[in-house]
Amino acid sequence: MPHGGTIIIDCGGQKHEGKSGMAVIRVIDTGTGVPAEIKEKIFDPFFTTKKPGKGTGLGLALAQRIISLHNGTIAVEKTSKNGTTFRIEIPESDKDETDIDTKAGPA
Ligand SMILES: Nc1ncnc2c1ncn2[C@@H]1O[C@H](COP(=O)(O)OP(=O)(O)OP(=O)(O)O)[C@@H](O)[C@H]1O
Ligand SMILES: [Mg+2]
Repeated sequence: MPHGGTIIIDCGGQKHEGKSGMAVIRVIDTGTGVPAEIKEKIFDPFFTTKKPGKGTGLGLALAQRIISLHNGTIAVEKTSKNGTTFRIEIPESDKDETDIDTKAGPA
């Protein structure tokens, strides 16, 4: 959001009958949107449209890697000149909350 704006982080759950649950996180911004011609590249490591010294192009690549280590997915759900919505889905853990060691990485 080069001109400022608002970010909303929306968290919820989804459960379909007979299937395990899913955490659904949406990151919604009022930025400039993702142009169609770069949509396929935004998750590539080091891909950036920022000026030299301003960005590494690692933000989305790292986010995708972390989410995939949790067996989840991230995708652009919606984008226009008024902003972008990223949708993250992470499957529910079958572990008991008390069994999870928060200092360790994902299993
Ligand atoms: N929310 C967004 N709205 C519009 N374009 C985006 C958005 N997020 C990423 N992009 C586009 O995808 C490119 C890659 O994003 P990524 O987060 O990987 O790197 P970066 O933001 O350029 O650099 P860094 O994360 O190091 O600050 C950005 O340069 C930009 O062109
Ligand atoms: Mg970024």
